Amino acid sequence: MELDKMDENDWKYHGEGNKSLVVSHVQLSRVLRLLKYPAEDSENPPQTVEQAYRQIQNIVDFSSNVMSSLLGEKFIHSGEVVKLPLEFVRQLSIKVQHQRPAWRCDKVMDIYSGCALCLPNLTSPVLHQPTHTPPLCIEIKPKCGFLPSSKHVSKDIKTKVCRFCMHQHYKVANGKWKRRSLYCPLDLFSGNRQRMHFAIRHLIEEPQNNFKIFKGGQCVYSSKEGSDDSIDLNSLLHHLRPYFLYGNNRINSHMTSKAVLNDFIQVLVNALLSGGGGDGGVMTDRRGEGRSFCEASLFNKERIRHGSQGLPSDSVLFRILQTQMLDTQDIEGLYLLYRRVEQHLQDFPKERTRLQIDGPYNEAFLEKLQKCPAEDDGSVEYAVAKVHQYCAAMTAKDCSIMVALVPSSEEEEDDDGESSQPETEGSDSSAQRRDESLK
Ligand SMILES: Nc1ncnc2c1ncn2[C@@H]1O[C@H](COP(=O)(O)OP(=O)(O)O)[C@@H](O)[C@H]1O
Ligand SMILES: [Mg+2]
Ligand SMILES: [Zn+2]
Repeated sequence: MELDKMDENDWKYHGEGNKSLVVSHVQLSRVLRLLKYPAEDSENPPQTVEQAYRQIQNIVDFSSNVMSSLLGEKFIHSGEVVKLPLEFVRQLSIKVQHQRPAWRCDKVMDIYSGCALCLPNLTSPVLHQPTHTPPLCIEIKPKCGFLPSSKHVSKDIKTKVCRFCMHQHYKVANGKWKRRSLYCPLDLFSGNRQRMHFAIRHLIEEPQNNFKIFKGGQCVYSSKEGSDDSIDLNSLLHHLRPYFLYGNNRINSHMTSKAVLNDFIQVLVNALLSGGGGDGGVMTDRRGEGRSFCEASLFNKERIRHGSQGLPSDSVLFRILQTQMLDTQDIEGLYLLYRRVEQHLQDFPKERTRLQIDGPYNEAFLEKLQKCPAEDDGSVEYAVAKVHQYCAAMTAKDCSIMVALVPSSEEEEDDDGESSQPETEGSDSSAQRRDESLK
């Protein structure tokens, strides 16, 4: 990829979130993640080129120096900042505009800075042995997997029903989604295979923004916001069936739809529990019965008594959960500490740099975040470390896991059928939100 010879015809619309728009290369396994601005600002660039470059470099630094250490290097891609020709970016913005979902068009793509984040395309991994069957990639946005136990929590319900499940009622009430999702993150993070199976089944039934399937790099299964259409399970099965013909000695025998779906979920559960070759043991659940079960979950609690508890310590889910749990105070406790930092900066504005309020996100930053004392000593250093821990936790609560399933080569197909490798893609939208909240 030569940055001075970019051609918009080599790129296509891939997807977008609240903060960025993603385009993918038609041949290379690469994506570009471009910033988005509110449409009102489209006449004038809201920040200088240098500011945009810094913003993206901050995302890379936060990802490579902070999140990668917390989540595990093998699970993260931080990418690199690239400077693109402005003419290319403008043409690209025109090209992708009509493919964008209408409800995302309150924001426009940044066409002023020419800065972008270049990442590997995790939905079309580079194949070692290309086969006829394209790779599948499953994107799961798991959200927060534990209940708060901070003494600052003022409403008892928050210690019983998880944030995702509470939000479901709110989102259906305000019309964002037509149906409530029965997915509960605490089931997914439980490490109990039956509960995880249950959680993924409900992600499939009501994907909302938490579940997507890509085939050969193209999104083939996702929710449309506000849409009344019920999700098309038949079309999903049509996509999945060719991948599950050979499993478990079922060669040539017809698999029922239910069996295909069960096998698919099973493969996902295995990928989420696997550690990428480590020898991590199973962590026993130290969170206690009460805190690892959400009262809104429809999973039959009686069934939990049997079967394993806890996640393997080298699994991606374990690392994500551990990082999420850096939020020890809950927002209610954190806010008091945030106010302490704010007050201190008002009195001593020059302390901003020493305290690394806005970075740089380097080793020193990570060390302060990790070495934060357990007890509040009343210092501003303690408060800053807690705020920064909270930012890392929020990033982990908002990340996506990309599970790539690459069919093994034809000769091996009568083995297991599938090989899988989980990878996470830390969504940096919270990293950006963090910058804003401390300004
Ligand atoms: N490296 C990548 N490879 C493949 N798809 C990606 C990659 N990064 C992002 N995406 C896709 O683009 C979507 C939006 O990107 P994301 O980083 O979540 O943006 P935002 O920060 O605005 O939420 C993701 O949900 C995912 O489907
Ligand atoms: Mg996102
Ligand atoms: Zn829940």
